[in-house]
Amino acid sequence: MAAAIVGIIIFLIAAPRIVKKWYHRPAPAHIGPFLSSPLRFLMQPPDKIIERSGIKPGMTVLDLGCGSGAFTIPVARAVGEQGKVIAVDIQRAMLRQLKRKLAKAKNHDIKNIEVRHDSAYNLPMADGTVDLALMVTSLPEMAERERALREVRRVLKPGGILAVSEMIIDPDFPWRSTTIKLCEGEGFVVEESLGKWWSYTVRFRRK
Ligand SMILES: C[S@@+](CC[C@H](N)C(=O)[O-])C[C@H]1O[C@@H](n2cnc3c(N)ncnc32)[C@H](O)[C@@H]1O
Repeated sequence: MAAAIVGIIIFLIAAPRIVKKWYHRPAPAHIGPFLSSPLRFLMQPPDKIIERSGIKPGMTVLDLGCGSGAFTIPVARAVGEQGKVIAVDIQRAMLRQLKRKLAKAKNHDIKNIEVRHDSAYNLPMADGTVDLALMVTSLPEMAERERALREVRRVLKPGGILAVSEMIIDPDFPWRSTTIKLCEGEGFVVEESLGKWWSYTVRFRRK
């Protein structure tokens, strides 16, 4: 019985990775509800991601590859009225899910989120205007990661933060060392590396 359960878990982790070797597309929008589910938050609780990323009141945060907005709303609350979140995603269907969340009565008080249908390769902000770029399970999904990181570097203020969080159940999951090598190669230095090997956050500073 135990062996069968372990086998099923291994299959569930391995199968999407094998499919992804041939299927280079962004995460389909129908996984949006899972991304904001309690099961997902077991691995990446929003308060932990916010704390590890170094998000503070008053910051301007770019939620890059925001998807259905699993972290966008908690981050908007964390930065407060003096802060701002610019939520960018390449898929309209994901952004519609975020907009539906924002339309709920419990979120009517949130006025500090700008939702943008844009690409990581051509960000809709001026140079040096963002305090912190948040990338949760989005960087490895981008076909041109170095190009995306160059854009992130452009929009970050000098000394600004790039916070990258990954979890093992993502079919694109990269090892921590891979993430560090990639970001260091594009002008970021590690400030702090946190979490377990299967669910980690690395906080970088823009050089
Ligand atoms: C696995 S989802 C993660 C969403 C969200 N960050 C979360 O953790 O719930 C990755 C997201 O990155 C977006 N994405 C992929 N390539 C992108 C690009 N080039 N520019 C902007 N967003 C992109 C996808 O559309 C998708 O919504």
